Amino acid sequence: MSDLIEGFLGKSVEGKKSKLPAQLDYIQSATGLFLGLFMWGHMMFVSTILISKDFMYKVTVFFEGAYFLSEPKPVIVSVIVAFVFIVFIVHAGTAMRKFPSNFRQWQFYRTHMKMMNHGDTTMWYVQAMTGFVMFFLGSAHLFMMMTKAHEIGPFASADRVWSDFMWPFYLILLIAVELHGTIGLYRLCVKWGWFEGKDAKESRAKLKKVKWAITVFFLTLGVVTLLAYMKIGYDHKDNYGERYHAASHLELRHDGKVNA
Ligand code: HEM
Repeated sequence: MSDLIEGFLGKSVEGKKSKLPAQLDYIQSATGLFLGLFMWGHMMFVSTILISKDFMYKVTVFFEGAYFLSEPKPVIVSVIVAFVFIVFIVHAGTAMRKFPSNFRQWQFYRTHMKMMNHGDTTMWYVQAMTGFVMFFLGSAHLFMMMTKAHEIGPFASADRVWSDFMWPFYLILLIAVELHGTIGLYRLCVKWGWFEGKDAKESRAKLKKVKWAITVFFLTLGVVTLLAYMKIGYDHKDNYGERYHAASHLELRHDGKVNA
């Protein structure tokens, strides 16, 4: 009954307003922070291909538990991806509350944005747009990684990028993720007053510079990494599907024989 009264009047019998909007805001921030920081780690792991195929392979089998189980188990990666996917869905669900929900609201926001010509307001628009793109591309990528966790590795990933023609998909996702993630982390700092210091105006200007530096860094790293997977995939196209095996440590003995 009290739910019904609150539903009609927007206030409980005691005259209190629901705490749910504030709680949802908190969940949105916490999941956003997790995903933003996760993406920094993710870009580092994926870009190990720039060091060598062997290094990327070692990182892959590490996540599959190869160093503490008797054999690699890709299902561990599926479980990690499933967890990230749940966080991703919760974040998207809480964030979409903020989208303009009809033409009038949309028109009002666009006019406001143009008139204000204020960097942070425009950034919100970029964040909403890139978030929308990620609904589709982020979900598709996570679903693929979850169900094909056994197909991650220097050749398997490069074959997907080149021979399965996934590079345009990754390029769009990369731009959306990097813009969305760094704007999101910047907005979290502003919203919750992190690193505010004594002079909020000055610290905000500094934060903005750091934000751009991080965006440029991860976008560059991402594009160079994607190019590396494309090159490996192109060179490997005639052996599509063949899996990478770690370079064995060959040792040349003095008597001319080889020890593997
Ligand atoms: C635990 C979850 C995840 C795993 C295991 C994972 C794994 C990978 C792997 C192995 C690649 C290399 C290409 C391939 O094999 O297809 C890749 C690329 C990529 N992933 Fe993920 N990913 C995860 C989550 C995410 C999320 C949440 C996003 C953003 C929504 C994302 C965005 C990207 C982008 C943009 C690339 C291209 C990177 C580049 O071009 O440098 N990934 N991911």
